[in-house]
Amino acid sequence: MTRPSLDAHIAALDVDDGLESVLTVVARTCAEISRVVAGGALVGAMGASGRMNVQDEEQKKLDVITDDMLTQALLACPAIAGVASEEKDKAQIASNPGGAYLALFDPLDGSSNIDINAPVGTIVSVLKSPSATPVEADFLQPGRRQVAALYAVYGPQTMLVLTTGAGVKGFTLAQDGQWFLTHDAIAISPETREFAINVSNQRHWAEGVQRYVEGLLKGADGPRGKNFNMRWVAAMVADVHRILMRGGVFIYPWDSREPNKPGKLRLMYEGNPMALLVEQAGGKATTDGVQPILDVQPEQLHQRIPVALGSANEIDALAAA
Ligand code: F6P
Ligand code: MN
Repeated sequence: MTRPSLDAHIAALDVDDGLESVLTVVARTCAEISRVVAGGALVGAMGASGRMNVQDEEQKKLDVITDDMLTQALLACPAIAGVASEEKDKAQIASNPGGAYLALFDPLDGSSNIDINAPVGTIVSVLKSPSATPVEADFLQPGRRQVAALYAVYGPQTMLVLTTGAGVKGFTLAQDGQWFLTHDAIAISPETREFAINVSNQRHWAEGVQRYVEGLLKGADGPRGKNFNMRWVAAMVADVHRILMRGGVFIYPWDSREPNKPGKLRLMYEGNPMALLVEQAGGKATTDGVQPILDVQPEQLHQRIPVALGSANEIDALAAA
């Protein structure tokens, strides 16, 4: 059987040449990142960089390497007007004017997994630029306006999962560095018996989330009348990938520790692109079971947001808890 390549899929999309070239550059760079991630200690990619990022988190060497790879590749693409990275304080504007698109990315999601050889990923969100010489405010568009969202997961296989607003497709990286379609029309089943939440933060959660998770843990003896299983990879990309493959619910809720940081995840680099992929696969992506992430008006580039996404019936159960 001949499988369509990602290049062929991109060429057949009903989008302009500019967006095609942005997607091509991102896919090529993710394939290169996959090689560096796989090389690990052999290519000097392990350990801390000795630097902190804008979120006050210690950067791993791979955070810095992958951020540089994506930034350079995208700023060299004529269709790009500017980029914003989870790892950088400010957005960067392309020196050649005329680009029509903005790319926002988390270059290496779940980077604490690197040292234990567990999955990590890259997440990318693409918006239209309102201007050929954008300013930071131009990046602050609701997720509903994304023209593409994708992630690459570097696991036992490297996969790239993409939406341009007409469903979700998954591609697997072959030995020759090309991506081939392996997962057509990805759909999230509305029913699930699997949840993902970092239970060590339970005492800090709001009451609704406490009640919901209590109900899951009581299983067949509780209000839900069925047993649930729990999984937590500690890399959002891998947890969301599991949900796209076999259903489930992923929650990183608001908690009371730092009231000025509502949740841990970032709206522009994590919440929005994952929400578009999840909605396009038939799931729900909300801040709290009710409010769609994609409708949130961003106020800051590095804004944090509570996230509850996945199988529709569980998101509804959270809203009702
Ligand atoms: O990017 C933040 C992140 O690494 C996510 O990928 C992941 O879901 C989460 O943090 C893990 O958080 P915790 O450290 O609470 O397990
Ligand atoms: Mn991340």
